[in-house]
Amino acid sequence: MKISVLVAVLMAFVSVASAANFNQDIAVTWGDGRGKILDNGQLLTLSLDKFSGSGFQSKNEYLFGKIDMNIKLVPGNSAGTVTTYYLRSQGTTWDEVDFEFLGNLSGDPYTVHTNVYCGGKGDREQQFRLWFDPTKDFHTYSLLWNPQRIIFSVDGTPIREFKNLESAGVPFPKRQPMRVYSSLWNADDWATRGGLIKTDWSQAPFTASYRNYRADACVWSSGKSSCSSSSPSRNAWLSQELDVGSQRRLRWVRKNYMIYNYCADTKRFPRGLPKECTS
Ligand SMILES: *[C@@H]1O[C@H](CO)[C@@H](O)[C@H](O)[C@H]1NC(C)=O
Repeated sequence: MKISVLVAVLMAFVSVASAANFNQDIAVTWGDGRGKILDNGQLLTLSLDKFSGSGFQSKNEYLFGKIDMNIKLVPGNSAGTVTTYYLRSQGTTWDEVDFEFLGNLSGDPYTVHTNVYCGGKGDREQQFRLWFDPTKDFHTYSLLWNPQRIIFSVDGTPIREFKNLESAGVPFPKRQPMRVYSSLWNADDWATRGGLIKTDWSQAPFTASYRNYRADACVWSSGKSSCSSSSPSRNAWLSQELDVGSQRRLRWVRKNYMIYNYCADTKRFPRGLPKECTS
């Protein structure tokens, strides 16, 4: 009896400790005051105007992790704006796992753009629509990165899985620690069908909001990685895979909401699709 109470108290302590505070975990790195941490670290906003966007990064570097963030995207006419949320390592042969949200005219849908880079090489784009309006409320955008796979999820529904297929000769990011980054910037030169629609600066400043950053992750420090929890069940993400229900939901997303898949773009790869598409 006593032991179970103690365990419950400890578990509560551990989960509080990992529910983040932006002041503790995040550094606003650019934008000259346009990125703000508010409400005692519970809310973060990025803004963009004619002169500059803004951005932040995690203080920690991670080698594997499950990163969740609640984001409310720029409302109204957001065409030309891009909100990014990604993992990236340092250097010229960097690894990167991207979510990018391309804004649109009022009432028109956002594009969710995803990519995976390994050793500085990407070209693995998949794009999606969402099944809700991402500007009305906060929604959870998650990146699960473990040695076997990368899973992109939205509100717990997987939209993309990139498997470790090193055995088939496909590179997989697993040697370089990555930080979490996010930014809001202007990309009306490419984001809107090749610059067709320009950002309407009369609507500025554009603002995206963030809450509930949570990193169940292995923190990289002085060449070593240490995983957040001593209790093994709390690191279940390290070996997590898609169960049958998640696979079914992934198929539902791909069937109904995927609007671009590099693996189906045979014109782009005349000499054959990348190996991960056929393995
Ligand atoms: C904006 O909405 C239009 C109309 O649905 C769509 O064709 C276009 O791809 C969208 N643009 C972006 C950047 O999502």
